[in-house]
Amino acid sequence: MEVSDAAYDVIRDLLFAHSGQEILPSRRWRIPTALSGLFRELGIDNLDQLVCLLSTGRDAELPQRVAEALLNNETYFFRDRNYFDNLSQRVLPALAVHRAATRELRIWSAGCSTGQEPLSLAMLLAGQPRWHGWRVSICATDLSSRAIKAARRATYSQFEIQRGISVTEMLTFFSEQKNRWTARGDLRRLIRFEQRNLLDTPPAGGPFDLILCRNVLLYFDRQTRSRAARRLHEAIAPDGWLMLGAGELLPEEDGLFCPEPGNHGLVRPRPGCGVSRLPAASAA
Ligand SMILES: C[S@@+](CC[C@H](N)C(=O)[O-])C[C@H]1O[C@@H](n2cnc3c(N)ncnc32)[C@H](O)[C@@H]1O
Repeated sequence: MEVSDAAYDVIRDLLFAHSGQEILPSRRWRIPTALSGLFRELGIDNLDQLVCLLSTGRDAELPQRVAEALLNNETYFFRDRNYFDNLSQRVLPALAVHRAATRELRIWSAGCSTGQEPLSLAMLLAGQPRWHGWRVSICATDLSSRAIKAARRATYSQFEIQRGISVTEMLTFFSEQKNRWTARGDLRRLIRFEQRNLLDTPPAGGPFDLILCRNVLLYFDRQTRSRAARRLHEAIAPDGWLMLGAGELLPEEDGLFCPEPGNHGLVRPRPGCGVSRLPAASAA
């Protein structure tokens, strides 16, 4: 399906306003495919009709539905397993020492999609006896209300459950009914799900000792990555850890985080640096 320049402009601006995500011209062909489910729900056939509906402003929820349909929610359990190994072998043992006095661990999964990432963390922690008796909380947020609804259900198809976890993990942490796999209650109780834009005020429950923000920044432009960095910096404990996705970077010029040498995706707040150091132009 052809995407006219006018329709592309409307959809690109709408997505950017709602999420900070960009659709580059080279990816505009994706728009009709991504929106085909919404076309069916609305009983329309094409993008021009959708743009027309949007222009009437009659359905206040339509822009959010369009933005959600365009977001990439791809995820799976223990995505990039070596990153989780790194958490398990390096970050969590360090936090166990540094938080021994309070025995409290606060984690934020920012851009958690349908919940596989925070559940992977919950499985990791449940498998480590050192956390028993600790107050562990995982806050899991995503812009997409559909993704958050699915994450709260924590029930996965046979296809989804097989992506990333071993048969032993599947049988230990999930129960099966009619080919649908639901996460154990004790894992789900560790996680608080919230629909939230990463570019808005961070969720309550911080400062966070560990933040995972993986495969979310990929479609942000430089300025929006700065805004996200500022939010993440507001939310993280001064001695906390932030894990990004493979190949993701925060703008170095902002000076808010510095990479941990040799550690997959890990960055830490730069000592003594405050939000006020950001140039005014990149403030939210
Ligand atoms: C590709 S998924 C990554 C999920 C998971 N972090 C992982 O690595 O498997 C990206 C998620 O970021 C969410 N997202 C995109 N822009 C966002 C924003 N501005 N605020 C919060 N979530 C956002 C999308 O809805 C999507 O669920």
